[in-house]
Amino acid sequence: MASTEAASPHTMNTYGRLPIALSHGQGVRVWDTNGRRYLDALGGIAVNTLGHNHPKLVPALQDQVAKIIHSSNYYHVPNQEALAAKLVELSGMTNVFFCCTGLEANEAAIKLARKYGHDRGIERPEIVVYDKAFHGRSIATLSATGNEKVQKGFGPLVEGFVRVPLNDIEALKARTANNPNVVAVFFETIQGEGGVNPMRIEYLQQVRRLCDERGWLLMIDEVQCGMGRTGKWFAHQWAGIVPDVMPLAKGLGSGVPVGAVVAGPKAANIFQPGNHGTTFGGNPLAMRAGVETIRIMEEEALLENAARVGGHLHDALSRELGPLEGVTDIRGQGLMIGVELARPCGVLTQRACDKGLLISVTADNVIRLVPPLILTEAEADEIVAILAPLVREFLSESMTAPA
Ligand SMILES: Cc1ncc(COP(=O)(O)O)c(C=O)c1O
Repeated sequence: MASTEAASPHTMNTYGRLPIALSHGQGVRVWDTNGRRYLDALGGIAVNTLGHNHPKLVPALQDQVAKIIHSSNYYHVPNQEALAAKLVELSGMTNVFFCCTGLEANEAAIKLARKYGHDRGIERPEIVVYDKAFHGRSIATLSATGNEKVQKGFGPLVEGFVRVPLNDIEALKARTANNPNVVAVFFETIQGEGGVNPMRIEYLQQVRRLCDERGWLLMIDEVQCGMGRTGKWFAHQWAGIVPDVMPLAKGLGSGVPVGAVVAGPKAANIFQPGNHGTTFGGNPLAMRAGVETIRIMEEEALLENAARVGGHLHDALSRELGPLEGVTDIRGQGLMIGVELARPCGVLTQRACDKGLLISVTADNVIRLVPPLILTEAEADEIVAILAPLVREFLSESMTAPA
């Protein structure tokens, strides 16, 4: 196999890449340039909602490419209105701003929160953020991120963030007591990069109530856990709450870069012309991808599929791996599942790849499965059939390896 360094002499060294290149895909299968086949349980990191080469998405995108790819936000883009209307319907919120990536959606959310504060006479607004959070790699979003590795080397960080632990309402109250500058609370319903860490239903409801009492914006980053992955359109909907601001990206365009920040009544009119913008955001190709992705998800009942197949996968993993010493937790919801091991297990990414399975390891010791939402139960069984022996073998090595 080619070495990773030799493979990328001219691109910046930002990723430790596996030594393969994917050339094409079909459903949840992908093939590399040497013709080897893989089962894709990573889905481009929770992006390929409809899998690869979807028979309804591809002709729609081909049609769009042949008509117009990009125009400009100087003009109306009809599918912007169509996609916004759909996101409003699905979220119970009111207005949408389109961008291209998760960090941009989060950057827009941070700007919304700050301007919300300034509009109320708060000169130095502060936003509550969480341990282990991941919100992106721009300077503001990495400052909101709760991971020193992501922040290291990029100081000075952006100020105006107050950090709290997950799922601890008393800690949130204590940390914000007598602080009139707090304007918003910002978290992922299920942390993705931080290790597939869910916020508890009760905690989500408590924070919603607290935000209402204190006049804060509730801002929920659904970039990774949203767009049907957990079996609801947005993961916070399991708690029956509605946020004030909701950044989206990843699965929204099923592979075409689409980001969005959705706002409810408290945040919908904060931005005025000149406050925010982007050249590519909301372009005709991206909007067609978003509209078609949601249409196909509805037609093919992919929320129900994510819940059912996700439950099946979770059960199978719990059966096969749950009893093993060294497997400390199996968690997540729908098709967002983390298997936590007692020690770092990054090597499993390569080993799984060698066995024809694409996965990732996040937070050093959590195997993350975020496959396309079209996954079948038989394919879920295949994931487990490849992964379980690898985990067993890894754990037996770790236990015999010298400390
Ligand atoms: C929850 C969450 N927010 C934001 C981001 C950043 O998104 P992007 O990589 O598209 O900038 C990610 C990416 O992993 C994410 O998981």
